[in-house]
Amino acid sequence: MKKALKIFGFLLAALALIIALIAAWVKLTPMPVYEVKPPQVVIPTDSATLERGKKVAELVCAHCHLGEDGKMSGRLFSQATDPFGEMWTSNITQHPTKGAMSRYSDGELAYLVRTGINREGRVVGYMMCHPQMSDEELGAVIAYLRSDAPMMQPSEVEHPAPEYLNSFLVKALIKFGVFKPLPYDGQPKSAPPMTDQVAYGRYLATDIYECGVCHSASFETFDLITPEKSPNFMGGSNPVPDHDFNLVASANITPSKDYGIGTWTKEQFSAAVRTGQRPDGTILKPNMPRFAPLNEQEIDAIWAYLQTVPAIEQAAVLPTSSK
Ligand code: HEC
Ligand code: HEC
Repeated sequence: MKKALKIFGFLLAALALIIALIAAWVKLTPMPVYEVKPPQVVIPTDSATLERGKKVAELVCAHCHLGEDGKMSGRLFSQATDPFGEMWTSNITQHPTKGAMSRYSDGELAYLVRTGINREGRVVGYMMCHPQMSDEELGAVIAYLRSDAPMMQPSEVEHPAPEYLNSFLVKALIKFGVFKPLPYDGQPKSAPPMTDQVAYGRYLATDIYECGVCHSASFETFDLITPEKSPNFMGGSNPVPDHDFNLVASANITPSKDYGIGTWTKEQFSAAVRTGQRPDGTILKPNMPRFAPLNEQEIDAIWAYLQTVPAIEQAAVLPTSSK
């Protein structure tokens, strides 16, 4: 009996030592640095593509990067009380020392958008990742970022470094490879043709305008590579913050007649997405961005695609942990 206790005590001590060693490794060793392999970026010249790049930058990048000065100077993105701590989105204007555009080459920007790895080789997260965006569209977004658009003009604004750089949890997630670069094989990427309405709508809804990221179970569980595999795909219930961090559950936008938008017409859908007005006249919370610049062809394609998504027969509600 005594001997068994002794062995048990020894095992316990060995286990404690192993845990302490792993914890020390996570805490004390530097963050992994990944190799940055900037692809060749071709900047499109035709006006229709450049117009799409402007739209994507102003609807998607600006959603997070638009600052109080009306430029892409960054804003508070998460609070100190959030799991990953306080984080500001970066100043990505053309300021010669304070804006990211002056540091990044086109290839490095493309690599960041494809993989979530910044130009120093650090994992900065998947917030700006669009692994399936076509090369053409990505080139057009970059053209916009370097253009004389008012939003991109130099801004002096500076923000503190993100707290997560010192967070044990984030360090552990990065070091154990939970947060790692998204796979990118460097192969050319193209968009489905606009004439293939459902495929093009899927591309817009899941790969470009992030309807899927917000309208599935959570940002953390969304699968950027195979969006349909994401839990509660388009069924809503993701707690989405507004700019003041008030949470609202994203809506169920599957064709469910009881819980989704199965009884809506395309015109009602278009009004909700562009202006924020529901069929019953109520106004959507600002947690849902307004996609006013989407043209009819884009709305029609997204609508056609959403009709093909399996209905989720469940009401969208905030998860209890976030109430
Ligand atoms: C969901 C929010 C979100 C969206 C959308 C977003 N970003 Fe960001 N971006 C962030 C956050 C947060 C950071 C800061 C990350 C950090 O400091 O670790 C950041 C940082 C950056 C950086 C600087 C990275 C570095 O080296 O530190 C660049 C460049 C950038 N974003 C470009 C873009 C572009 C281009 C788009 C549009 C395709 C975009 N972002 C869309 C949230 C977002
Ligand atoms: C930043 C996150 C976010 C993005 C991106 C987003 N949505 Fe939403 N959406 C929401 C939230 C949150 C609500 C619920 C708002 C409320 O309850 O007032 C919502 C509501 C809606 C509604 C109203 C549904 C209802 O039953 O009231 C529709 C339709 C909709 N979104 C479609 C879309 C489409 C299409 C896209 C892509 C073009 C999209 N959303 C992108 C967060 C988002």
